[in-house]
Amino acid sequence: MNILTIIGTAHRGNTRAIVDLFLKEFENKNNNFEEIILPNDFQNFCLGCANCILKGEEKCPHFNDVNKIVEKIEKADLIIIATPVFVGSCTSGLKALLDHLAYMWLVHRPKESMFNKVGLIITSAGGSGVKQTVKLLKSNFFYLGVPKIYNYGVTTMKMGGNYCDYKNKDKIKNQVNKKAKQIEKTLSKRKVGIKTKLFFNLFKMTQKNGWNKLDVKYWKDNGWLDGKKPY
Ligand SMILES: Cc1cc2nc3c(=O)[nH]c(=O)nc-3n(C[C@H](O)[C@H](O)[C@H](O)COP(=O)(O)O)c2cc1C
Repeated sequence: MNILTIIGTAHRGNTRAIVDLFLKEFENKNNNFEEIILPNDFQNFCLGCANCILKGEEKCPHFNDVNKIVEKIEKADLIIIATPVFVGSCTSGLKALLDHLAYMWLVHRPKESMFNKVGLIITSAGGSGVKQTVKLLKSNFFYLGVPKIYNYGVTTMKMGGNYCDYKNKDKIKNQVNKKAKQIEKTLSKRKVGIKTKLFFNLFKMTQKNGWNKLDVKYWKDNGWLDGKKPY
C-alpha cells in the first residue's frame, strides 16, 4: 500500500507528532511512504489565470511542480493531509497546493484513480478551529473524488511543544491506534458511497450541456457521458 502524507507545516510540533503516531501504526506492513512537506516542497501561489481549468492543466505556469505532486497523489492508496490550524483554517502552504488542484475537482476533470483512495485529515489547533478546518479539507477530498474520508483533530490548549507528550498521551495513542485499524479495514475493501455517486451523476448531467469544452471532452473521452463510471 502506498501512503502519501501532505503536511502543511515544516514545523516539527503537534501536527507532526500526530502524523508520526499514525505513520507508526502503518509501519512494517509492506507499506511505502512518501511525504510532501509544505511549503518546502511546493512554493507557488495560484495566479488565478484559470488556464488549468479552461485550457488544460499543462498550461498552468506551475505545471511542472504541480504535476510532480499529482503523480504522487495518483499513486497513493491512502492520502494523509495534515495541518495545524492557522487563523481558523489550514496553513497557507497547504491552501496554495490545494488551489492548484481545482481542475481535478468532480465538476471539472476528476482523475479516475481518486475514486479508489482513502483520505485522512489530521489537524491540531491551540483553542478552536479544528471543526472548520476539517470541514474545509473534507470538502477538498470529496470534490477530488475521494470516497472515504477519516479525520483526527486535537485542540492542544497550548502553543508549541509536542501534544503527544502531554498528559493525554495514552488516550491519544489509543485513539490513533483505533482509527488506524478502521482505515486499514476500509483500505482492504474500498467502495464508493452514495454521496459520491450522486454528485458524479449530477456533474454528468451538467457536462451534457457543459460550458467548458475541455471538461466536456474529458468526460466524453472517458466514456462517462455514455454510462461508464470511474468507480
Ligand atoms: C500563525 C498561527 C496562527 C494560529 N491560529 C490559530 C487559530 O486560529 N486557532 C487556534 O486554535 N490555534 C491557532 N494557532 C495555534 C496552533 O494551531 C496550535 O498551536 C497548533 O497545535 C500548532 O501546530 P504545530 O505544533 O504543528 O505547529 C495558531 C498558531 C500560529 C503559529
